[in-house]
Amino acid sequence: MSKIGVIGGSGLYEIKGLTLKEKKRVATPFGRPSDDYRVGQIGKAEVIFLPRHGARHNIPPHMINYRANIYGFKKLGVERIISISAVGGIKKGLKPGDIVIADQVIDMTRNRKSTFYDGKEGVTHIDLTEPYCPEMRRILLKAGRAVKVSLKNGGTYLAVEGPRLETASEIKAFGLFGGDIVGMTGMPEAALARELEICYSAVCLVANYAAGISKKKLTVAEVMEAMKASTEKIKSLLKETFSTIPQERKCFCKDALKEAKI
Ligand code: HPA
Repeated sequence: MSKIGVIGGSGLYEIKGLTLKEKKRVATPFGRPSDDYRVGQIGKAEVIFLPRHGARHNIPPHMINYRANIYGFKKLGVERIISISAVGGIKKGLKPGDIVIADQVIDMTRNRKSTFYDGKEGVTHIDLTEPYCPEMRRILLKAGRAVKVSLKNGGTYLAVEGPRLETASEIKAFGLFGGDIVGMTGMPEAALARELEICYSAVCLVANYAAGISKKKLTVAEVMEAMKASTEKIKSLLKETFSTIPQERKCFCKDALKEAKI
């Protein structure tokens, strides 16, 4: 059975209505993951859910043990990960409530452990030209059409360190770099998943206009409210994805290490 990992972000600490009964605590060489993994069967898939910030939202973005989280999924046999996260909208036309299936990343984080390969087993450079699994992007977009959840096909996720929000000038600069959306958790998650040959896809919910895009002051309440308002849409998107995802992977992610080692 296909094993699919789901990482829930701000406002999504469980997939309500989708029963994931069993909890699994996983130890890793990199320390503890954010929480226990919730395991259950939905449709044809075995789904393994992890709340990125912990079930009580007590881990800020810059303190998340990204390596432990991704390694834990690998240990549980997960081949594909769907990340759900809240982001700020930079690109003109994006508005709160929109959902972007990201296709590119710009990493502006600075202080995170961002690789599993520290040189002990040789030197490894994985290819990240296409940071998100193209097959999963297609499956998600098709699922969105089937359940009438409107999705934006593609967008560049600009990852920041946080936990502070950005200045208006930073957002202006990030827009010039090519960033469409801004968030605090997208990296190194995507790169770490590729390093372990796990497919990774990002469902990014625009929770607010990024700093300076609208005149309004940003509030955390606004982010949480937007996530809550979109829970049903995300849930039906996930359900459809779980029931249509093929067993076998045909993408390049599964062979990411083949030509990556020196
Ligand atoms: N900036 C960074 N991260 C975010 C934002 C934002 O505006 N909204 C939700 N996550």
